[in-house]
Amino acid sequence: MKKINEICCIGAGYVGGPTMSVIASQCPEINVTVVDINQERIDAWNDADLNRLPIYEPGLKEIVAQSRGRNLFFSTEIDKAIDKAQMIFISVNTPTKTYGKGKGQAADLKYIELCARNIARVAKNDKIVVEKSTLPVRTAQAIKNILQNTGNEVSFEILSNPEFLAEGTAINDLLNADRVLIGGDETPSGQMAKEALSGVYEHWLPKEKILLTNVWSSELSKLVANAFLAQRVSSINSISALCEKTDANVQEVSKAIGFDSRIGPKFLQSSVGFGGSCFQKDILNLVYIARSYGLNEVANYWEQVILINDYQKQRFADNIVTSLYNTVSGKKIIFYGWAFKKDTNDTRESAAIYVADALLEEKAEIVVYDPKVSEKRIYADLDYLNTREPTENRRLLKVVKEPIEATKEAHAIAILTEWDEFKNYDWKCIFHSMLKPAFIFDGRRLLDTEKMNEIGFKYYKIGES
Ligand code: UDX
Ligand code: UDX
Repeated sequence: MKKINEICCIGAGYVGGPTMSVIASQCPEINVTVVDINQERIDAWNDADLNRLPIYEPGLKEIVAQSRGRNLFFSTEIDKAIDKAQMIFISVNTPTKTYGKGKGQAADLKYIELCARNIARVAKNDKIVVEKSTLPVRTAQAIKNILQNTGNEVSFEILSNPEFLAEGTAINDLLNADRVLIGGDETPSGQMAKEALSGVYEHWLPKEKILLTNVWSSELSKLVANAFLAQRVSSINSISALCEKTDANVQEVSKAIGFDSRIGPKFLQSSVGFGGSCFQKDILNLVYIARSYGLNEVANYWEQVILINDYQKQRFADNIVTSLYNTVSGKKIIFYGWAFKKDTNDTRESAAIYVADALLEEKAEIVVYDPKVSEKRIYADLDYLNTREPTENRRLLKVVKEPIEATKEAHAIAILTEWDEFKNYDWKCIFHSMLKPAFIFDGRRLLDTEKMNEIGFKYYKIGES
């Protein structure tokens, strides 16, 4: 395989957009074209105003500004981009199935399959196809079957190259990756394809950080990495419940165990529960695969990580109801934050959605402020749950752009996302505008306990009695 100089990526989302922008910025001699079926999204990627890119990610707009129009292009002309490319990344979404076999657990691969069929139809010369979306193990095999049974003379190499970027730090994670994983066939042509992709990353990463494996190890490693990370969060969250019943403080426990170099300090921050497009979905995939091989003990073990996460969200909502004298009906509760973590406008599986849904069932009146999430998104998230009529969601929940004014005559504030700006609010002024007793439910352990108590708040912090 000669050197790669034409790359195409199908899917201009949270993964495809930032990843391709970084590749283009680091490899000036490679043309990178990102395509998507969604015209609105592509228009946003091409917007002259870089503040209107479709996703918010620190450092992204600077990188897009550097390369867009030079060797980075966003387009809806999918066939043309496939035809030109030597290497095609598939980075479309793979939601959990909402119908049929594996409903609620297995990943829906229809978009992946559509992409594969499209590539098979258009390709006139050899291509390397790279799965970038997180997928159940064995998907590469399925893609290969579709591509190889098209009847033309084109030969395809399928690689698995899972993404490890975390939202909010995507650009840094890409530029300073802990490792890059490339899975492919152990045949000479498979080896060559792996080397070709490795060559792209070697523009900015040392070769020792690029791990070459077989396809299945690579696919499975992605699921396992996310399962281990999520497991740490559920582990500490389970302990937070115990801390609240005793005089232990979860922060002190995290710190004490994190000092053990075998455990390490990261991912031990207790919270209202993990969210994001990957953790839950990847664990569900792992559970589904294990179960499909009859490994029920393994499946049950990993499923528990999700059950604890659901418990944590429910516990947080229940505690709000109990603290507000067992009824929140007609009470104004302010939500600070809707995104699944700070520095992103992504809300997929955000704990805020489920906490809001539980409180709306109790007829609370919720007012949401999030610095980056749109009103449209918030209602879409709630409507998707289908718990009540959309009109009812709009009647009971309001979205505001002004966080302080919103607190007027509120009964309680719940912190759902750890946005830095919340720390610097004038909490004395907020206290004065609220009804008394004024409650704060801090699901992110963001504020200072002593200071909040001093101001006069009834302050509840996850993991402290
Ligand atoms: C991620 C990852 O790729 C995946 O690993 C993870 O498991 C969940 O989703 P992400 O980039 O976050 O994808 O998803 P999203 O922001 O929804 O972007 C996917 C894009 O693919 C969308 O813009 C969609 O319009 C596009 N798409 C989807 C196509 O272009 N063609 C299709 O056939 C389907
Ligand atoms: C994750 C993985 O980190 C990344 O490698 C993979 O490619 C995609 O999935 P992401 O979902 O973007 O990334 O965010 P991450 O930072 O991992 O956080 C996931 C969730 O866990 C967030 O809701 C976060 O608030 C929560 N979390 C994380 C905690 O509650 N406590 C912690 O200590 C860490």
